[in-house]
Amino acid sequence: MSPSPRRLRLDDIPACLDLAINRGWLPEEPRWKMLLSCGEGWAIEDPNGSLSAVVLLTRFPPDLAVIGMMLVRENRSRQGLGRQLMEHVLVRAHPATVFLYATEMGRPLYEKLGFVPVDAVARHLGNWTSPAREPAPQVRAMAAQDMNTVLALDRRAFGADRSDLLIPLVNIAACALVLERNGAIDAFGLAWQNVGRMQLGPIVAPDQEAARALIDALARGHEVPVRVDLQVGQAELTSWAREHGLTAHPPTPLMVLGGKDLPGERSRLIAVATLATG
Ligand SMILES: CC(C)(COP(=O)(O)OP(=O)(O)OC[C@H]1O[C@@H](n2cnc3c(N)ncnc32)[C@H](O)[C@@H]1OP(=O)(O)O)[C@@H](O)C(=O)NCCC(=O)NCCS
Repeated sequence: MSPSPRRLRLDDIPACLDLAINRGWLPEEPRWKMLLSCGEGWAIEDPNGSLSAVVLLTRFPPDLAVIGMMLVRENRSRQGLGRQLMEHVLVRAHPATVFLYATEMGRPLYEKLGFVPVDAVARHLGNWTSPAREPAPQVRAMAAQDMNTVLALDRRAFGADRSDLLIPLVNIAACALVLERNGAIDAFGLAWQNVGRMQLGPIVAPDQEAARALIDALARGHEVPVRVDLQVGQAELTSWAREHGLTAHPPTPLMVLGGKDLPGERSRLIAVATLATG
């Protein structure tokens, strides 16, 4: 019988990075810090004090939640720890609609728990070659007074309140941009530094023109490769991203518990913030 899950604290991050490395994931300290500050992490400890398994639950009021960073140490896998932690956070998330992005390894566990694939995103990674000398003129830096508009735009697209994720993310972002047309902001995007690359996302935009303008403005001028996780089903956008230096990786399924409909105008969600949060 394994011990009960305990809450993860910020000072557990080195142990989380150790576990990530154990499963061949990058030790993404900025991402763990951000995720643990806006969501709740749970862990199962080994008798020797290291972590055997971790998972993160992030809630988006009023009734949406996401599970991410599900990791079980390799020598403890297939012993029920993944299921134990998943069941623990599913009880805590109830009655919210729960979604996650599933790796190939995670998918059998999630299917057994009742998650159903409903959509997917594809990681795009590479060195950006900009299509224009200058960024689109409608794009400008996000100002503090834009925050309420940005949060409202995000809520319309995502169908729930992501303030607890977006406000800290804007604060650490290398670049936070809005797109203004006819005197109103109708799109925004962030770029933030992760390990060895610049992560773009979230990007929320009502159409392809705005999406392209934001991706180009966010991706240009970095010395490291950029990564953007684009919703699949945007064929023109993904082939344009490929033409400008990004390589597409196989899609990662978006799974929802019970196959429920997700709220929001999801066609506006061009790129996710991270796979652990949507
Ligand atoms: C995916 C992962 C978390 C599973 O954890 P685990 O502790 O090994 O899973 P469990 O032992 O709790 O298995 C739960 C169920 O899923 C099934 N399952 C787990 N891994 C499986 C696999 N690779 N293939 C087929 N079935 C699998 C088990 O049969 C089990 O079913 P049962 O409870 O009815 O017997 C673990 O393999 C892992 O950390 N992988 C690397 C990181 C990763 O990809 N995480 C997922 C991120 S979305």
